[in-house]
Formats: sequence, structure tokens, C-alpha cells
Amino acid sequence: MAPSKVRKAVIPVAGMGTRFLPASKAIPKEMLTVVDRPTIQYIVEEVVASGIEEIILVTSAGKQAIENHFDYDFELDTILSRKNKKKLLEEVRHISELIDIVAVRQKKPLGLGHAIWTTRNVVGNEPFLVLLGDDLVLSTTPCCRQMLDLYEDVGEAIVAVQRVPMEETHQYGIVEGEQVRDGVLRVERMVEKPAPGTTDSDMAIIGRYLLMPEIFGLLEHTTPGHGGEIQLTDALQALAKKRGMYAYEFQGTRFDAGDKLGYLKAVVAYALRHPELKDAFRAYIKEVAEVV
Ligand code: G1P
Repeated sequence: MAPSKVRKAVIPVAGMGTRFLPASKAIPKEMLTVVDRPTIQYIVEEVVASGIEEIILVTSAGKQAIENHFDYDFELDTILSRKNKKKLLEEVRHISELIDIVAVRQKKPLGLGHAIWTTRNVVGNEPFLVLLGDDLVLSTTPCCRQMLDLYEDVGEAIVAVQRVPMEETHQYGIVEGEQVRDGVLRVERMVEKPAPGTTDSDMAIIGRYLLMPEIFGLLEHTTPGHGGEIQLTDALQALAKKRGMYAYEFQGTRFDAGDKLGYLKAVVAYALRHPELKDAFRAYIKEVAEVV
């Protein structure tokens, strides 16, 4: 039997963004600009390019700017039309027409697992994607599309992974497993932010997951883990035991845009690919590198 179609994507954006203070004090970190659009727009565009039909945002107080960004802005539309700014008009309309978005509130900051759990009634009984707003993936085929293609084949939950230096494993959810084919592992154990020396694996989960609806029941019974929060990784470990799960080494470059250095790297990489800016920016980078 073909696996059920994946139609929905959950994007948790309720986090405080403490790693990005003071920039994230009054502006959601997801609204910080990478070249000419907020980071959240890249995530939404990845979802759209992967063929998903609906996005569920998990928000919290102070995150209204994200919903507004994807809304239709009648006043702006009218002004741009009157001034005959056709290209800009097309761009802002395009953003509001990208995809259907609904928002649910995470009422307490109890962790990523809890944020996902709040979407249970909106997602319902079907497989779905989760994308973390901090992780930008630059790739030829969108990272989620790559995962959906693998899903057609394996029909089980998938987490996207990349190898990280061993001294950084304590910053990630880490996957241990057996390689079943090039770039694909069958997950045996997962641990959220392992203490140094407690795992031999360097396979880190990055913020892309394809999950089965059973995860909601498992999250319901997940007790607080690392950092006193309800961890998605702990529920995933239970899901992996129950019905199998795969880890996928995606094709592309991932940027941690929720971290100051990772964000700067993302700005440079995306600017060097921007159709209108790349040539002038490349010349500028060379010039700066010579001076420094
Ligand atoms: C979250 C997950 C972690 C994952 C990481 C990827 O952690 O809990 O398993 O490796 O995202 O970015 P956070 O970065 O929110 O602490």
C-alpha cells in the first residue's frame, strides 16, 4: 500500500530567541532578514516548493509579525498599485498567496515536544512535516522534498541529519543507527544533547522531520527531559521503537540562523546566490578580504 500523502507542515515559532538577543527583544528572530526576506519566508518557500498544502505555525505572544508577513495587506497593496510599482506589488502579493497558514498558540514554554503536541487537533490523523525556523537549508532540491521522496519509498518517519564535529554533539539531538543504504540509516537510538563521551555517533538531527501522527500520543506521555523541557527527541525515540524510523543525510548546506555566527554565514551564502546582488556582493567580499 502506498504511504498516506503528506499535506501539512508544522513550523514552531514560539521560542524566545534568547541566543539572538538583543536583536530578538521586540522582533521575532524568525523575522530577521537574510538578504531581502525574513528567515521564516525561506522556510515557508521550502514547504511550498516541496508540494505541501497547509502550514501550521505554533506561535506565542509577540509573534504577530510573522502572521502579518504572510497576510494580504490591503493598504500596502493599494499604495503600490496607485504608484504603479508593479514589481514590488507582485512580490508582496506573492507572499500572501504562497500557502494556507493557520496558527495555534503554545500557551506555556514547555519545550519543542510540547509545541508540536499543541498542533494535534489541526494535524489530525495523517503524517506531517516539521521544520524548525532556525535551520535554513540551501539546496538544489528542497530538503523537505528530498525527505518526501524517501518517504514514498520507506513509508516511515524520517529525521534529517548531518555529521557534526564530535565536540559539538552535545548541542544536538543525536541519532545512532545502522546504515541501510547510502545516506540512509535505520534509527536505533536517539538522545537529546548527549553529555560528552556518551555517544560514538556524530549524526546530528537538523530541524526537518517527517512524522507519523502516533507521535502525538507519545508526546502526551513524554516527561520533561533535557533542560526540564518536553523534548521531541524523547518522543521520537519511542516512535522509532514502536514502528521504525529513518535518518537521512540530506543534500545541501544547513545554516543555524538562530545563532549569530550561523546567521552571518547564511547572509553571505544567500547573498552570493541572489540574482541581482551576487556579482556586486562577490566583488565587495573580495575587496574586504584583501583589506582585512
Ligand atoms: C532542536 C532539537 C535538537 C536538534 C536541533 C536542530 O534543539 O531539540 O534535537 O538537533 O533543534 O537545530 P534546539 O536547537 O532548539 O535547542
